[in-house]
Amino acid sequence: MAEGTQAALAGTNYNDRVVRQFALMTIVWGVVGMSVGLLLAAQLIWPALNFDTPWLTYSRLRPLHTNAVIFAFGGSALFATSYYIVQRTCHVRLISDKLAGFTFWGWQLIIVLAAITLPLGITSGKEYAELEWPIDILIAIVWVVYAFVFIGTLAIRRVKHIYVANWFFAAFIITVAVLHIVNSAEIPVTLTKSYPVYAGTVDAMVEWWYGHNAVGFFLTAGFLGMMYYFVPKQAGRPVYSYRLSVVHFWSLISIYMWAGPHHLHYTTLPDWAQSLGMVFSLMLLAPSWGGMINGIMTLSGAWHKLRTDPILKFLIVSLSFYGMSTFEGPMMSIKTVNALSHYTDWTIGHVHSGALGWVAMVTIGCLYALIPRLYGRTSMWSTRLIDWHFWTTTIGIVLYIAAMWIAGVMQGLMWRSTNPDGTLTYTFVEALQATHPFYIVRLCGGALVLAGMFLMIYNVRRTLQERGAGIDQPVMAPA
Ligand code: HEM
Ligand code: HEM
Repeated sequence: MAEGTQAALAGTNYNDRVVRQFALMTIVWGVVGMSVGLLLAAQLIWPALNFDTPWLTYSRLRPLHTNAVIFAFGGSALFATSYYIVQRTCHVRLISDKLAGFTFWGWQLIIVLAAITLPLGITSGKEYAELEWPIDILIAIVWVVYAFVFIGTLAIRRVKHIYVANWFFAAFIITVAVLHIVNSAEIPVTLTKSYPVYAGTVDAMVEWWYGHNAVGFFLTAGFLGMMYYFVPKQAGRPVYSYRLSVVHFWSLISIYMWAGPHHLHYTTLPDWAQSLGMVFSLMLLAPSWGGMINGIMTLSGAWHKLRTDPILKFLIVSLSFYGMSTFEGPMMSIKTVNALSHYTDWTIGHVHSGALGWVAMVTIGCLYALIPRLYGRTSMWSTRLIDWHFWTTTIGIVLYIAAMWIAGVMQGLMWRSTNPDGTLTYTFVEALQATHPFYIVRLCGGALVLAGMFLMIYNVRRTLQERGAGIDQPVMAPA
């Protein structure tokens, strides 16, 4: 049954205002975050591009990039889609419009504060948790309100069943709250400086328990929620196996928690903890691939749609990148492999096959499916432009990650290579010089990805300018 009809039968009037706000800001922050990424890629080739200006230095812009793409771009996408999906699958309006609005403005304020403080060099120094304590408190408040709005809406649902996408979103929201609060426990010294309550190895362990689960829950579980709703919707078919999705959910969330130590191989962390992290990382391959297979197989019987629907291409290729990065991650967690990959650009390649290939592509696909519906249009203004966007992004990502893989393995091999007398075969600068061409290829790949985002802005603008002709909804996924 079409969603519009379902909503009418249930007498429901959804809050799409907050979804529209977050959806549009996802695109804005995507362009901002990727532009900073592109500048970083250029600075690694031409260091003079920092113009001797403190707030343009690599060290300050790098956390700006990671915060902008993960929390501003990815975060806004998660807010938009979770609010959209929970209303549709529970047949009920968000529990509170005011609180939902508060999460929008609160989240945007946090992003603006991050964009000001990070270039000023104000940082806690913890990767992916760089923001200082007053902003940390604000994040905790906004997040708890988000949890209330999402879980409160689930609680007042008009259908008995909770669709699997909501399970993933709820796990993501609850876990991120716990991760953030525990990892940000700090003692303020001034308004802009604090020190963590943890020290030494314990601090590192807490940081990577947080960091890895930020990947597992922020960059994975929430986006799997998006996948479980939009892939069946766009394919016009029920999810391949509902039973597999339940097994996928429980195995993924219970294994992710223990894999963090793979970030601390060969450190002062006790050896048994490193090995435990490695074993859990290897086990993580199974649920990750279970999810990927469930998503891709949803298309069985409808593969022909890939020929004509670029939105489906975005979604299915994002799942393929998800499968690739979750195969690569467990391999990199094996201690002997990590001895080669750690500190090299291989890690950067892995990060972007997950972050660009999976996170950005699934987000873009979902936005193209969502935006016409939010604005009462039958489709995006131009399908051909979506197709162009798909190809620029795919080619750009392949260039980016292939360059980093080759550069990374080469760096690792050059650094460890020794002469018969035990001296190093190559100096560090020689390895850097050898990397130079690959940095240029990465820059070209990044430029293609960013160019695609501008195509998206143009397409969205034209879609919003067009006069709408009602909402055309494909078949609803089984709820
Ligand atoms: C046009 C697209 C992008 C470009 C050109 C780009 C470029 C870069 C560069 C140059 C770095 C620094 C690498 C280094 O220090 O050696 C970086 C780091 C990073 N980027 Fe991106 N990026 C892009 C998109 C994204 C997106 C969409 C995400 C996430 C959703 C992302 C997540 C990250 C993360 C997590 C790191 C830190 C990696 C680490 O510490 O190992 N990037 N990016
Ligand atoms: C089964 C799933 C995965 C496993 C077992 C895994 C494992 C790993 C390993 C071993 C490293 C290298 C640690 C190091 O040498 O420092 C790493 C780095 C990283 N991975 Fe994954 N990975 C997985 C999936 C993903 C996905 C899907 C994403 C993104 C969406 C991702 C994002 C990252 C990031 C951002 C880093 C860099 C962290 C840093 O040092 O700043 N990973 N991962």
